This record gives sequence, C-alpha cells and structure tokens, in this order.
Amino acid sequence: MDARPIHQERLYDDLAWLMPLISPPEDYAAEAAHWRTVLRAALGGGRHHVLELGAGGGHNFSHLTADFQATAVDLSPAMLALCRQLNPEVECLPGDMRTIRLNRTFDAVLIHDAIGYMLSETDLAAAFRTAAAHLAPGGVLVISPDRVTESFRPPEVDTVSRETEDSFVSYVECTWDPDPADTTVETLMVYLIRRPDGLQVELDRHVTGLFPRATWRRLLADAGFAVTVRRFPLAGLDRPYELYVGRRR
Ligand SMILES: C[S@@+](CC[C@H](N)C(=O)[O-])C[C@H]1O[C@@H](n2cnc3c(N)ncnc32)[C@H](O)[C@@H]1O
Repeated sequence: MDARPIHQERLYDDLAWLMPLISPPEDYAAEAAHWRTVLRAALGGGRHHVLELGAGGGHNFSHLTADFQATAVDLSPAMLALCRQLNPEVECLPGDMRTIRLNRTFDAVLIHDAIGYMLSETDLAAAFRTAAAHLAPGGVLVISPDRVTESFRPPEVDTVSRETEDSFVSYVECTWDPDPADTTVETLMVYLIRRPDGLQVELDRHVTGLFPRATWRRLLADAGFAVTVRRFPLAGLDRPYELYVGRRR
C-alpha cells in the first residue's frame, strides 16, 4: 500500500490553536489538585518556586500558579505563546528538557505528560539529569508518565467533541505499539473541524516513549533521586493516576 507520510506533532505547531479547544485548562483541575497535594506534602507551606519542563500551553500549571512561583520551559514556540497567554505571571522560556541549563535551582521540578516525548532510556536519563541540575539536595521532582508498560493495553482509543460559539471539533486518537521490542508507541490523531468558513480534516502523529516501572525507578535513582510513587483515583482513568516523586539526594 502506498501510504502518505503524516506530519508529526502538529498539535504543538500549526494545530496548536486546537489545544485549548480539545483539552481546555479546566479539564486539568482534578489532576492538578493531586500535584498540589504532593508538592505541599514534600515542600510544606509557602510560595515555593517550581520549574515545569515541557509545560506546553500551561494548562495543568495554570491550577498551581496561585500557590507557587512558576517558570515554564518548552520546546515549541507555539505552545510557549499559549502558555504566556494563559499564565501571564509565569516566566516562559524556550528549551529542550534533555539539555537546558538555566544555571539556577528551584524548590521543585515538574514534568507532566511531556515526559512521554522521551523515546529512549538515553532521553529519559537526560531529562532526569536536567531536573537534578535544577534542584539543590532535598529538592523535589514530580513526574506523571501517561502510560507505563505494565498497564498499556493497545489499542487505546479516545474521542472528544467540543463546541464553542463558532466552531465544533471532534477528535479521535488511537495509540498502538507497532514494535513491542522497542521503547516507543505511536498515536494517530484525526481532527474534524467545522468553522464558519467551512470544514477541515487534519491528521497528526505522535511517537512517545513506553517504559516499565522498574526502568523509571532505576533511571531516577541513577540521576540521584530517592523515589516514591503516589497513586490517586482520577475520574475517566481506568487505573490509578501515578505520580513519581523524587527527592534529590
Ligand atoms: C501534551 S503537551 C504538554 C501539556 C501540558 N502538560 C499542559 O498541561 O498544558 C507536551 C509538550 O511537550 C513539549 N515537548 C516535547 N518534547 C520536549 C522536549 N524535549 N523538551 C521540552 N518540551 C518538550 C511539546 O512541545 C509540548 O508542548
């Protein structure tokens, strides 16, 4: 079959305008409450300074910025623009979570679903080293892997429809594992968009990492973190929501 190539990660580029529509900040409130619980337990009270690596449009972050001073880093200029718009009080900086060095430390480093874009153990270890470089001993790293090998049941299919005053978007995504021997999975997305000026159908493809829990623990330990895993119930998730919490040694 002669398959047409599908451009990758358009949701963080020319389709970034869809992000607040299909995944609005209010959808992150319950999740962010668990992040606040974990951060307060680890840091205590006070307006601590937190750094998010791969903050995207800052949707999860937007629920934390009333409690914490915040700095956001992301690879995508389009996503940083959305983040600035939603969180005008947040310092938003371009950078790759594997290599960026801001040459200062924070009370906590957060990596939300962007950690999924680490495709190999080398990537994952580099992101953990970046986190360690931005924390003093005792500092806290919080990470939420979207999926781990043990609970991944391909194909995972998700669909969302949203309506605004002048547009309607339906979105279907399917994630499967073309090569179970490697550390990546593939998500294909179809967006059906109705706007006043007509209909639009767009395709997108994201390749993300998949690792067993033991790999997370091992690489976090290698990067100098003492690790605990916190599990919470989360509406819409058929398994506990897992937060990896690392304390820098
Ligand atoms: C799903 S979005 C994050 C959404 C975010 N959690 C929120 O609440 O709005 C994933 C983000 O990871 C970013 N990203 C992917 N690889 C990255 C890397 N190596 N360094 C920094 N950011 C990265 C993408 O640009 C994208 O903005």
